[in-house]
Amino acid sequence: MADPAYQSHPVRVRVPATSANLGPGFDALGLALDLCDEIEAAVAPAGVQVTVEGAGAGEVPLDEDHLLVRAMHAAFDHLGGRPPGLTVRCRNRIPHARGLGSSSAAIVAGILLARALAVEAASDADFDVAAVLRLASSMEGHPDNVAPCLLGGFTIAWTSEDGAHAVRLEPAPGLRPAVFVPSRRGLTEEARGLLPERVPHADAAANAGRSALLVHALTSDPSLLLTATEDRLHQDYRAPAMEPSIALVRRLRAAGVPAVISGAGPSVLALPRPGEELTGFASAGFDMRELAVSRDGAAVVPPHGESR
Ligand code: HSE
Repeated sequence: MADPAYQSHPVRVRVPATSANLGPGFDALGLALDLCDEIEAAVAPAGVQVTVEGAGAGEVPLDEDHLLVRAMHAAFDHLGGRPPGLTVRCRNRIPHARGLGSSSAAIVAGILLARALAVEAASDADFDVAAVLRLASSMEGHPDNVAPCLLGGFTIAWTSEDGAHAVRLEPAPGLRPAVFVPSRRGLTEEARGLLPERVPHADAAANAGRSALLVHALTSDPSLLLTATEDRLHQDYRAPAMEPSIALVRRLRAAGVPAVISGAGPSVLALPRPGEELTGFASAGFDMRELAVSRDGAAVVPPHGESR
């Protein structure tokens, strides 16, 4: 393919936070949350210049090593060539390293920005949403945050020999997720390193059944969420890396509130009944935020458009 032509104007995307696993659906299930990063990018004559406001400011690289720029470059390579330079402005709201999908959001944003900047990309049948999901998941390592970030709503993702796939389901109306975000960060590699090589068959069977029930509970009958979010495959094994979060999950569940570790942690996701008050669970070291489900997922939005 010849070098693509590029838009002369900036493009902007909005990408949501996500919560993966949702208890039993390890590496498969995910929910998009209406807490969004907004990123604007434009082609420049030379060099890569990144500015960051909000989460990650002062911590992430401001050049081609930035994860979002790496994703842009991967997408431009897929399209046949990179522009001479880029300017990228990130307005970040998704907390970093808390199990809320900030790296998936950066990767999805980068790919969508590159696709929007390349004039011919819209007609490139090889770079549809399924291809974006595959490329983003191959960069991230797992599709369970990438899928809800890209598609919105509630997603079931899986990986086959040809890469990642996902289906999107509509979450039940009235679902009001809340996240408890700890001040302490977590590392996905560390949390994965705590998982055993083998698990008892009875635990695997319990999780398979609960995951199936969770699909029904999240889409049709949230009254089943407390049972449907039971997990025996990862959360307790990870307790040594996130004791306060596990203690909060137990406290919420003991009070009848469906609660799980969000992704690889250490944030906690709660799915209370409509109108149920969670302020009594506010704990030292956690910032509680009530959020809507992001039903649309990642979107290219007009530059200087309304932000939320
Ligand atoms: N499912 C992953 C884990 C996190 O729990 O390690 C997100 O990819």
